[in-house]
Amino acid sequence: MIDHATVEKIKNTADIVEVVSDYVHLIRRGANFMGLCPFHNERTPSFSVNKQRNFCYCFSCKKGGSPVHFIMEKEGLSYHEALLHLAKKYGIEVVEKELTDEERARQSEREAMFVANEWAMRKMEKDLTDTEEGRDIGLQYLTQRGVTDEAMKAFHLGYAIDRGNELTEAARRAGFNLDVLKSLGLVGTSQQGREYDRFRGRVIFPILNTAGKVIAFGGRDLKGGLAKYINSPESNLYKKSNELYGIFQAKSSIVNEDKCFLVEGYMDVIGMWQSGMKNVVASSGTALTDGQIAMIHRFTDNITLIYDGDKAGIKAALRGIDMLLSHRLNVKVLLLPDNDDPDSFARKHTSTEFKEYVAAHETDIIRFKAKVMLDEVRNDPHNRIEAINSVVSSIAHIPDPVSRDVYVQECSLILGIPEATIAQSVATARRSITEAQRRERTRRDFPTQAADQTISGSSSEKATGDDPTAQTPLSGGNNANQVKQTVKQAPSETTVKKAARPEANPLYPLERNVLRYCVRYAFLKFYTYETEVISPETGLPEKELRSLDVLTYVNDELSEEKMSFSVDIFAQIFSMLIEMRPAFDEYLASRMESVEEELESARKEAYARIRQSSMSMEEISREEKKLESELSSRRESAVREYTKEYPGRILGSDENAEVRRIALELVLEKHHLSNIYLKAGNMELEEDRLDVLLVRAIDEWKNEIINQSINELFRQFREISGKGNTEEEQRLQAELTSRMEMRTRLAKCIGERILFNGRRK
Ligand code: UTP
Ligand code: MN
Repeated sequence: MIDHATVEKIKNTADIVEVVSDYVHLIRRGANFMGLCPFHNERTPSFSVNKQRNFCYCFSCKKGGSPVHFIMEKEGLSYHEALLHLAKKYGIEVVEKELTDEERARQSEREAMFVANEWAMRKMEKDLTDTEEGRDIGLQYLTQRGVTDEAMKAFHLGYAIDRGNELTEAARRAGFNLDVLKSLGLVGTSQQGREYDRFRGRVIFPILNTAGKVIAFGGRDLKGGLAKYINSPESNLYKKSNELYGIFQAKSSIVNEDKCFLVEGYMDVIGMWQSGMKNVVASSGTALTDGQIAMIHRFTDNITLIYDGDKAGIKAALRGIDMLLSHRLNVKVLLLPDNDDPDSFARKHTSTEFKEYVAAHETDIIRFKAKVMLDEVRNDPHNRIEAINSVVSSIAHIPDPVSRDVYVQECSLILGIPEATIAQSVATARRSITEAQRRERTRRDFPTQAADQTISGSSSEKATGDDPTAQTPLSGGNNANQVKQTVKQAPSETTVKKAARPEANPLYPLERNVLRYCVRYAFLKFYTYETEVISPETGLPEKELRSLDVLTYVNDELSEEKMSFSVDIFAQIFSMLIEMRPAFDEYLASRMESVEEELESARKEAYARIRQSSMSMEEISREEKKLESELSSRRESAVREYTKEYPGRILGSDENAEVRRIALELVLEKHHLSNIYLKAGNMELEEDRLDVLLVRAIDEWKNEIINQSINELFRQFREISGKGNTEEEQRLQAELTSRMEMRTRLAKCIGERILFNGRRK
C-alpha cells in the first residue's frame, strides 16, 4: 500500500500537460492546450488541457480529469495502479505504508496466494509445450481447435499433467505451503487424506484481473468426463461475480474501440480475439452482475452482447438487460446464425466479415426485446399485457429521461399501442424503481435508521404473538407505524401538548421558519467543506470536497437532536420534501442537458468569433478566460434557478389544499427584514447567508423546546415540593439545572453567531 505522503507527492508532481503529451499532440491555445481527444475519434480538437488547474477535459465526450484519472482511463488501470504508473514516470520512490498486524497478515496471505497462482500458471504454461504429454494431449487439442500460438501466449493457456499429484509434489519441492495451494483450489484432499492435483489432465485457462495478476483458473476436460470445466473456488483473490474472463487482454481495445463485446465462454473470447476483435470478455456462463457491469463501465459506455441465435441464446440475451440499462450503458445485442457460437463463427469467417456481420446485425436491446415480445404475442395473444409490461419495465430502468422518451415512441410503433399509454406505464414503473432505489440508499446511508425499523418490526411481531386479539399480519404495517411514531416522539416528548389550533402551539412559528428554508431552498447546496474519505481503490484517506444541501443539513440536525416537527402539516410537508429527491435529481439532470447544449453552442460561437478577430495572443487568452468563467457562472445560476423553483412548484400543485396553501405562502413570503443579520444596510441575499440563518433557525427552535421542558419541570417541582418526597425533588432539581445549563450554552451559541456576523461586514 502506498503511504499518504507519497500519494500526495505523486499528485503534486504529475503535470497534466506532460502526462497527456505522452499520448496526444498538444497545441497551445491561450492559457490552455488543445488536442485530438484520445478517448474518442474526432477530426477537430475538443480535448482541452488546463495546466493551471492540472486537469484535462474533452468537451465532446466529456472524459477527463486529473493526471491520475487520465492514466486510469487511458491505460485502463485502477487508481492504485495509475499512481504507481505516475510514480515510475517521475522516478518517485514508492514507500510502503506501515500496515497493522492484521492488515499485514491479510496482505501477506494475499501475496502468498498471488505468488503460488503465478507459479502454477507458469508451470502449466510451460508443461503445455515443453513436455511430451502436454504436446500430445493439450497442445494437440488447442491446435486442432485452431488456437494460434499468439493467442496461447496472450492468454497464458496451459496444460495440467495427468499424474495424480505432479503439481502438488512440484509445489512442495519449490517450498510452497500446501495450505495456500489448497485455498486456491489447485490442490485437493481425497477422503483418504491424500493430496491430489485438482486440474490434472485439463487444458488450463488462467483468469487474470484488470492488473494482469492470476486470480483463478478454468480447466477444460479433454476426456469426456462429467465436468466439462472445473474452476477455482472463490477465495481471497477470486470473487467470481466481480471478474470477467479476458478483461486484462481486452481493456485497452475496449477503450480504443469504445465498445465491449460480451460472450459466454473462454473459447469464445479467444476465438474473437484471434480474429482481431480484441475488445471481448466473457461472463463465464453465468448472468452478469453489478460488479462486472461496473468493471466494463470503467472502460466504455457501449456493450454488445453476443449470443447464439437459438431460443436459449435469446433468453440469455434478455436476462440481464434491466441491470445493464440502469447502469447507463448503451446495450446492443447480436444473435449469431443458428448452430454458431462466437468461437466457431470467428473461425469460419475473416475478421472483416465478422465485423461487417456485427455492423449489420447488432440491434438496440430494447428494440430487440420489443420485437421478440411481439413475436411471442403473435403466437400467444393471452400474454400480450405481460409482454408489454416487460418492455415497459426495461424502458423504465433507463435513468436518462430523454432516451426513455425516444424508446417510448419507438415501442409504441413496434407494439402498435398509443404512445401516451406506454408513456404513462413507464412513468409509473419509473416511480417505483426510483422509490426502491431511494429506500436502498437510505438503508445503506443510514444503518441506524434501518436498525430502528427492525426494532419496531420485531416489537410489532411480538405484539401479534402475545395478544390473541392483535391485528392480523395484514394490518401489521399499521402496528409497526404506531410503534415507530412513539419512538419518534419519545425524545421530544418533553412538553409539547397538542394545542387545539396549531398556531397556538408556541413552537409553531419556529418550526414554520425552519420549514420555510426547507421549502424555498430544499436541494440548494449552501455549504461546501473538505473531508477525508477512504478511497475504495486504495484504502487510503483522500481529500474530497462535499456540498451540503439545506434538506440534508436540516434532516441530519433534527435526527441528531432527536427533534421532529410537532405541527402535523409541517411534518407532512417535510417528509414530502425528503421523498422528492430522486424525482428532483432526475428533473435537474434532464434540464441541465439542454443547458449544456446551449452553453456548448455559445462556446463554439464565441471561439469562432475570437479566432476571426485580430486580437493578440494575450488578448485571446484573456477573452477565453473571460468566456469560460462566464459559461461556468451561467451553468451555476441555471442549477440554482432550477433547484429553487422545483419544490415550490411540486408542493404548490399538490392534491392536498392545505399543503398547497402553506407551500405557496412559504415560497412567496419575502424574507424578514427585521432579521438582525440582514439589518444595518446589509444587502446580502437570504440564500447567500443560509449557513448562518439555518443554524440560527434550528437553534431558536431547540431553545424553545428546552424552555418548554424547563417550565414543565418547574410545574412538576412546585406540585411535589413540601410533600416530603425529597428523592423526587432532588431528581427534578438536578434535571432542571442541567436543562438550564443547556439553555445558557445554546443562548451563548446564538449570541456568538450574532456578534460574529454583525462584525463581519
Ligand atoms: P460452453 O459450454 O459454451 O463452453 O460454456 P466453451 O468455452 O464454449 O467450450 P467449448 O467450446 O465447448 O470447448 C460457456 C462457459 O461456461 C462456463 C465456462 O466458463 C465456459 O467457457 N462453464 C461451462 C463452466 O464453468 N463449467 C461447465 O461445466 C461448463
Ligand atoms: Mn464453445
